[in-house]
Amino acid sequence: MIPTPAFVVDEPLLTLFAGRFEAALERHWPNSILSYSFKTNALPWLISHLRNRGVWAEVVSDHEYELALALGYPPERIVYNGPVKGRERLRAALAAGSMVNLDAKREVEWAAELGREQPDAGLAVGLRVNWDLEARVPGESATGAAGSRFGFNVENGELDAAIARLRTGGVRLAGLHMHRNSRSQSVDVYRASASLAAELIVERGLELDWVDIGGGFFGSLDDSPTFDDYVGAIRECLVGAVDPARTRLIVEPGGSLTAVPIEFHASVVDVKWVGDNRIVVTDTSRTDLDPLFRRRRPFAVDLTTASSATVPTQIVSGFTCMEDDRLLTLEDERELRVGDRLVFRNVGAYTMSYQSTFIELPPAVYVRDAAGAYTRVRERASVSDYLRGNSWLSPES
Ligand SMILES: Cc1ncc(COP(=O)(O)O)c(C=O)c1O
Repeated sequence: MIPTPAFVVDEPLLTLFAGRFEAALERHWPNSILSYSFKTNALPWLISHLRNRGVWAEVVSDHEYELALALGYPPERIVYNGPVKGRERLRAALAAGSMVNLDAKREVEWAAELGREQPDAGLAVGLRVNWDLEARVPGESATGAAGSRFGFNVENGELDAAIARLRTGGVRLAGLHMHRNSRSQSVDVYRASASLAAELIVERGLELDWVDIGGGFFGSLDDSPTFDDYVGAIRECLVGAVDPARTRLIVEPGGSLTAVPIEFHASVVDVKWVGDNRIVVTDTSRTDLDPLFRRRRPFAVDLTTASSATVPTQIVSGFTCMEDDRLLTLEDERELRVGDRLVFRNVGAYTMSYQSTFIELPPAVYVRDAAGAYTRVRERASVSDYLRGNSWLSPES
């Protein structure tokens, strides 16, 4: 048994999910790019594993871009998105052949500036489209009527202004980036984004190298929609506006690839009674499992205990000193004792990437292979990790 606390990546499950997305793309849009959204979970082992099977990187900051390079992604297999690109990194990414989707006006200026400096370089970029998801699929926008804050708005002319500005710098519009988060992750959201992309392409007579539909997909072992449902619907909506043999479809899944294949293994470290409640304290916390403290769905948990007696109410809690660091309430469940184990399933998305140094440092990570063998791929963070870079501590460090 591995020591707790620890994240565990189930390698066969990760392979299954990546393979399903690859198969959906191969079936509906062979000329496509599967790029993995680093922000979802940038564990170096995971990123390297996906690179090894040919998945591209989708990054949204200079730091993520540099991480991709450090882990062996060639620049021409990096999709560079997001509103926070630095000027130098943007210029280098364009020069090195990354696929870049611009999200901010200053980025348009930087690209146009580079285009003017290098008129023969044939610079080409994509633009993120700011579009009204709520109007097209009511009830789906996570931001409601307030709309999205990303990309260039279609209705008020900012998208066309950005296209025109690029043209004055000799930069070709090569792609549209359509990502929107949604409430239900329904296929209708992707029908809406692909249909809007098709309208924009036809109305403006665009000749695109790519349509980037973004991420936000649902990923589950048995439930629908499946990756195949999504990609099939996207193709149906786009095929009248682009030639799939010429224009590449880019998808940027994050959570749909990593949520299910990652577990958290924890142990009970203390139990006590408060009134009728048995408080079960563990060596994990919301800071590991729900770092934004906004999860509404209950955790899926497997319990390992030798006890057979049941208890009416057990409140399973985290190790922090926050009252609301409560993980779940067990009703009429077996009595948990010190040393018993809990495995929290489906916790790979937006957990490790929000890792906290609150009270404890980030836990170890293991990979479980098809034979059930565990390999540690990251050590638990230590105080010396925490102190690294504090050069005032000693002149040598
Ligand atoms: C531009 C972009 N691409 C991809 C993703 C990944 O989304 P998800 O983890 O929901 O697949 C996000 C997440 O917000 C995003 O903003």
